[in-house]
Amino acid sequence: MTGDLFEGLTQARPSRQALAEGAVLLRGLALARQDALLAALREVIAAAPFRHMVTPGGFTMSVAMTNCGRVGWVTDRRGYRYDTHDPESGQPWPAMPPVLLQLAHDAAEAGGFRDFKPDACLINRYVPGAKMSLHQDKDETDFSAPIVSVSLGLPATFLFGGLKRNDKTQRYRLAHGDVAVWGGPSRLLYHGVAPLAEGEHPLLKRQRINLTFRKTV
Ligand code: SIN
Ligand code: FE2
Repeated sequence: MTGDLFEGLTQARPSRQALAEGAVLLRGLALARQDALLAALREVIAAAPFRHMVTPGGFTMSVAMTNCGRVGWVTDRRGYRYDTHDPESGQPWPAMPPVLLQLAHDAAEAGGFRDFKPDACLINRYVPGAKMSLHQDKDETDFSAPIVSVSLGLPATFLFGGLKRNDKTQRYRLAHGDVAVWGGPSRLLYHGVAPLAEGEHPLLKRQRINLTFRKTV
C-alpha cells in the first residue's frame, strides 16, 4: 500500500537487530514518544543540570552527566557509586518521569526482559569530540536486570565488545530514537562510544543525549 511505503521512507519504523545473545538494537523505538521524552528531560535538567564528573584517577570526563530516579550514578576521586542525592545541590535526584520509566519498561520487554523496573537513569550529554571509553556497567548489585540505553540527537558509533576489555568490538550506528538493550549473557559486555562527529541535529542541535536505565539493587 502506498501509505505504508510512504511512511517507511519518511519515518523509520521500529526494527530489531540482534547484537549478541541477550542483546538487541531496537531502531526507532523511542521516536513515537520523542516530544514527551524531551519535555520530561528538560524538567529533569532544569532541576539537576549537566556537569562534568571526575574519575577516581583524576580525569574529567568529556561526557557531561546528570541523573533522575531513586539513585544516580556518580564518580569523584572517592570512586564510582550510586547516590540518592545530587552532590552538586545536596538534593535528592529528580524523580524518574513516567514517560521515561514506561519507555525503559517497553524496550526491555521488546528485548525479552519482562517487568523491568529501573531505579536509576543516567543522562549523558555528548558534544562533538566527546567519547565514552570501553567499560562494563558493574556498579549495580543486581545483574539479572538488563541495561536499557536510549539515543537522542546526533548519531554516534557504539562499540560493543566481549567480556574482556581486549575482545574485538563490533561497531553500530546509534541514531535518534534508537534503543539498545543488553542483559542475561550480555549484561557485563564491554561497551563504549567513539568520539562524536560534528553535526547539527534538527531537534537537539549540536549534541547527543543518551539515557541509560539500570536496576541497581
Ligand atoms: C554508557 O555506556 O554509559 C553510555 C552509552 C551511550 O552513550 O550510548
Ligand atoms: Fe555503560
